[in-house]
Amino acid sequence: MCGIVGYIGPRDATPIILNGLKRLEYRGYDSAGLAIVVEDRIEVRRDAGKLARLEELVRAEPVSGAPGIGHTRWATHGSPSVRNAHPHRGSNGRVVVVHNGIVENFLELRDELRAEGVQFSSDTDTETIVHLVEHHLAIGHDLTEAARRTFGQLQGAHGIVLMSADEPDKIVCARIGNAGGVVLGLGEGENFIASDIPAILDHTRQVVFLESRQMAVVRREGVEITSLDGVPVTMRGNVIAWDAAAAEKGEYRHFMQKEIHEQVRSLTDTLAGRVDLHEGRIRLPELNLTPDQACRIRRILITACGTAAYAGMVGKILIEKIARIPVEVQIGSEFRYSDPIVDENTVVLAISQSGETADTLAAMEEGRRKGAVLWSIVNVVGSQAMRISDGSISMQTGPEIGVASTKAFTAPLVDQYMLAILLADLRGTLDEKTRRALVADLRLIPDLAGRTLEREAEVEKVAWALKDVRDCLYLGRGINMPIAYEGALKLKEISYIHAEGYPAGEMKHGPIALIDENMPVVCLAPKDPWHEKMISQIQQARARGGTVIAVATDGDEVVADQADHVLWVPVTPWMLSPVVTAIPLQMLAYHIAAIRGLDVDQPRNLAKSVTVE
Ligand code: F6R
Repeated sequence: MCGIVGYIGPRDATPIILNGLKRLEYRGYDSAGLAIVVEDRIEVRRDAGKLARLEELVRAEPVSGAPGIGHTRWATHGSPSVRNAHPHRGSNGRVVVVHNGIVENFLELRDELRAEGVQFSSDTDTETIVHLVEHHLAIGHDLTEAARRTFGQLQGAHGIVLMSADEPDKIVCARIGNAGGVVLGLGEGENFIASDIPAILDHTRQVVFLESRQMAVVRREGVEITSLDGVPVTMRGNVIAWDAAAAEKGEYRHFMQKEIHEQVRSLTDTLAGRVDLHEGRIRLPELNLTPDQACRIRRILITACGTAAYAGMVGKILIEKIARIPVEVQIGSEFRYSDPIVDENTVVLAISQSGETADTLAAMEEGRRKGAVLWSIVNVVGSQAMRISDGSISMQTGPEIGVASTKAFTAPLVDQYMLAILLADLRGTLDEKTRRALVADLRLIPDLAGRTLEREAEVEKVAWALKDVRDCLYLGRGINMPIAYEGALKLKEISYIHAEGYPAGEMKHGPIALIDENMPVVCLAPKDPWHEKMISQIQQARARGGTVIAVATDGDEVVADQADHVLWVPVTPWMLSPVVTAIPLQMLAYHIAAIRGLDVDQPRNLAKSVTVE
């Protein structure tokens, strides 16, 4: 959840680290700090609060040199304060560490270190790491070996970066388990380390991802990767196609707004090269799927968290409808504890923007342990979820910086629709006419998303009407039921308004008691097979005095007559309708939060990659 940046090379590390941290601030932001080797000592600057505080501190007390490491923190052990901010120094101030993850055995390790006379100056688990390194250095090991021995003592999942004033020619880092990525950026005569790609995109697009239980010694001239046991690892490089500008806000007020508007592009990109209109077929070569394998699939278990799980719920309807394969959706945090029924004819399909969400990765590992085929739909190329999968579909949305996921919600809807068609085709369960019609519908999607986005001004007006509400109910049925969940999640996470998504048909079994003039009800009522049913639901909400905000298809006078406000979407084939119905709800949540003057891109308590359980 925390952000990490490291630099070694001829340049001054301070601006490189500050700039990198800015790109990572979305990951966690209750304190920030950096450590720089200056001549023969290490200087540390750190402060509680946002990165701007650290920048001010560095302006007041400048520091320059190299190598350097930096960190933005999302507190786990110890309150957000200066003393708990990273980097953490050892007792003699010669070694520093930044860390992402939780040292699960830290109480035990701290007791052992205290018994040796070590004094702790923070409440963090991370501080044990630097004292352990010092301990191993004191008995004669060099930094690499001291780090290796320390890594071997830690329980839990970690991304760790450390350096020493006594060996300024190197930075040592490691990835253990799924606490978020450790990415090495390769430059000429200089190298970079980061927890996520945007931090180093200004400098290089050549990257190497550390796998779990690997460590690297990063020098100016090169990088050496080994397993934690010291066995050399052959580097597998990746070239990142995004450019640094893709991680800038540009003309928009917030990344979230920019990312909502990027959906025409992201949907176009996720279709590119995969839709063969001439043949009326879908091509997903990354899945390595043969007709024989497709026919063997008995069941698909979709696993994901939050927004990605709601995308999976839409996928369930699509895959069952088009490919006639039974699908279940299990949220990542429950999967591994539910003793899921999985065998080699089961596909576990993980959906994840970051590809680093700890719960989703744990679910995938459980699937692997039980012999399932592992697939993933992932945005961050090279992330752990992608690497451990047997086949993976890349969302192709470019970097998503705003904490609230938007473009990485709609792309996997389309990816699952394509997957469903491919599976049906390979299993021979789809007649040619239907297949061609389903494939042809895909080409409409970027334009339909664009036409929905053009209505932002109307959505903003509704946002002004709702800006002071305390609660909000979102109702949907069938394929648009998960969009009710997603709309409610978007609103609550960035505007802090209590919002609940509910299957509309369930309203009469309880939640209807909540509806009065203070409870706005957002009803998803596009022209889909559940349209008639939604109209009666709208009438029921109206009869209790609720303000109805309907998401409706252009020209639908029946819904317009019943609703206080309408968020219009263009006529869309029903199986793709969630792509367009999600967009006004993203814009609605965005504008309500922006009107309320909230920190849209970095809502309180949230982080972009949730790398702890
Ligand atoms: C909500 C949101 C989260 C993520 C969830 C999974 O807007 O972004 O609910 O969807 O934390 O993250 P990924 O997709 O990275 O696995």
